Amino acid sequence: MKPHEAEKRIRELRTILDHHNYLYYVLDSPEVSDDEYDRLFRELKDLEARYPQFADPNSPTQRVGAKPLDKFSQVEHTVPMLSLDNVFSNDEFDQFVERINRFLGRQEFYDFVGEPKLDGLGVELVYEKGVFLSGSTRGDGTTGEDVTQNLKTIKAVPLRLRADVYPVPEKIEVRGEVIMNKKDFLSLNGRREETGEPLFSNPRNAAAGSLRQLDSRITAQRNLDIILYAAGTYRGIQFETHIDMLEHFRAWGLKTNPHNKLLKTRDAVYRYFSHIEEMRDSLPYECDGVVFKINSLSLQRSLGEVSRNPRWAIAYKFKPRTAVTRVLDIIPQVGRTGILTPVALLEPVIIGGARIQRSTLHNQSELNKKDIRVGDTVVVERAGDVIPEVVSVVREKRTGKEVPFRMPSQCPVCGSKIEKLEDDIFYRCINISCPAQVKERIRHFAHRGAMDIEGLGEKWIGTLVDEGIVRDVSSLYGLKKEDIIALSRMGDVLVQKLLDAIRRSRSAQLDRFIFALGILHVGEHIAKTLSMKFKSIEDLEKVTKEELQQIEGIGPEIAESIYDFFHMEENLILLKKLRAHIDITNPYESAVTGHLKGKRFVFTGGLAGLSRDRAKQMVEQSGGSVTESVGKKVDYVVAGDQPGSKLDKARSLGLKVLSEDEFVKLVRGHE
Ligand code: IVH
Repeated sequence: MKPHEAEKRIRELRTILDHHNYLYYVLDSPEVSDDEYDRLFRELKDLEARYPQFADPNSPTQRVGAKPLDKFSQVEHTVPMLSLDNVFSNDEFDQFVERINRFLGRQEFYDFVGEPKLDGLGVELVYEKGVFLSGSTRGDGTTGEDVTQNLKTIKAVPLRLRADVYPVPEKIEVRGEVIMNKKDFLSLNGRREETGEPLFSNPRNAAAGSLRQLDSRITAQRNLDIILYAAGTYRGIQFETHIDMLEHFRAWGLKTNPHNKLLKTRDAVYRYFSHIEEMRDSLPYECDGVVFKINSLSLQRSLGEVSRNPRWAIAYKFKPRTAVTRVLDIIPQVGRTGILTPVALLEPVIIGGARIQRSTLHNQSELNKKDIRVGDTVVVERAGDVIPEVVSVVREKRTGKEVPFRMPSQCPVCGSKIEKLEDDIFYRCINISCPAQVKERIRHFAHRGAMDIEGLGEKWIGTLVDEGIVRDVSSLYGLKKEDIIALSRMGDVLVQKLLDAIRRSRSAQLDRFIFALGILHVGEHIAKTLSMKFKSIEDLEKVTKEELQQIEGIGPEIAESIYDFFHMEENLILLKKLRAHIDITNPYESAVTGHLKGKRFVFTGGLAGLSRDRAKQMVEQSGGSVTESVGKKVDYVVAGDQPGSKLDKARSLGLKVLSEDEFVKLVRGHE
């Protein structure tokens, strides 16, 4: 391919990919399969690698990969990012309209736009001539942080605006909310729980924590979303109304909320509010009210602002799903990895149909921020399907007898020393034989996705550990019927069932076994990855940190955690005991010992007899790996129908090129 042809194709591919991205992430109606998208993406990536002179920081391939930052730089907003005043009833909304009328010396009702109020993090995106230039957080409204790299990883942020309906403006600052959808929040916390990391308290904190990462690769894994709803300064475009501006946003490829609506009467406003409140739980994101904005921009300008709130907009909040109750106690709860979590024991209350009597206070710094003390009267909130949360203290109810909580210096369960981690936010019991840790580790070990020991629940574990019959997971395999029957009131049948379940777990798959060990940061996925690279636990014990880091998906932190686990005396003793009881087989062994071990493959062009996914699977099962770009380290390039530039590059590097037939023979082992 000649350079000018390459340049043309590169441009073409970027436009096509941007378009599919828009269909998928903004309109939520994709037109091509993921495979097709991946194919185009790889073609572009490949061409860009071969023709670096046509690089562009806003190419769809450039969303991830920027170097981690040391710190964020500050950005001053050209127009302050305001906050909103609240109302809580139709009457209060009427008073808000009344204030507008008094200010303007009129007596009428205005056109409003109703928008769901999103519970996320305010941000600003700057586009010049349609190209995404930079982005920042709201911060204190005047100054925010430059989070450009992180915003680029959000697929709903267009790297260039579409100009097919309206021409793009000279410059525009678009404002909106970065959010984490409920399902992504729940699965992120699910993964964190599995890997022993602290949980986020709600989707907003998760979104904020994810956007404020110095390493944008972490942000990229968090599936953030964005919805745009306002503008800062702009040049080279005029809008008459707010709804007109939102329509421009949408046409430019900026995601707006499909529930936004123009409302012309007071009744329409009330109805809209009730409608969104009813939908609240079925919305994919947390929403805590409705924002009403005067539609006419010239009216907005006349109204201006008062003490950092616009006079022309109001947040009408939903009736909170909260209750007032008392903190009976705050106890430090010891988790599987020894991390202490302060938990509030509450006088039971019913909120939204659920009885609430415990609430995690997350960590010492959250607790300090809210200044929650034992004996305090507190407001507890249950938002949708999210865990109950102590939101604030009712200060007026303080008597002076309330007692602040301090993390103990000794473990409340075993009395060992507590160490501080990360600027005093996290505390950890250093004794790995601590009964609380042991119980949590057994619970994890018996978990369905791990060794799947049915019936071994909290009660059993509590009794077995407290009675000193079980000291670690290996002693489960020495349990005898007589021991258990003597100490529990459980009937013969239940005891037998438990013993049967334990017996069944005596043969296990390597990936489940690794997961069951409860190594910090090692969830089901990493456990499977490890099983595809190592034949057995013995091999894992010998691996170095560097070797671990070579594996795709394993970064320095995970590598360190795995390495440390297999270099702790106690763990090695435990593993030895476990191996005496459990027969571990590796279902991915063929991948480890396969005849293509260590071989790297690149595919280019279409395959006739098998899908790309299948081909990839065949390579992996024989121990090889598939990469996207052609380089010196590649062993085989498989050229299918209409191969792309990768083939030219492979030839120029003198790599071995295979046809589809040759590939199949090679994998099957008769070359
Ligand atoms: S408009 C001057 N629209 O709520 C207008 N804000 O309490 C200010 N928010 O800082 C923003 N959904 O982060 C607007 N549809 C929406 C919103 C929204 C959520 C947030 C925003 C703002 C805060 C104000």
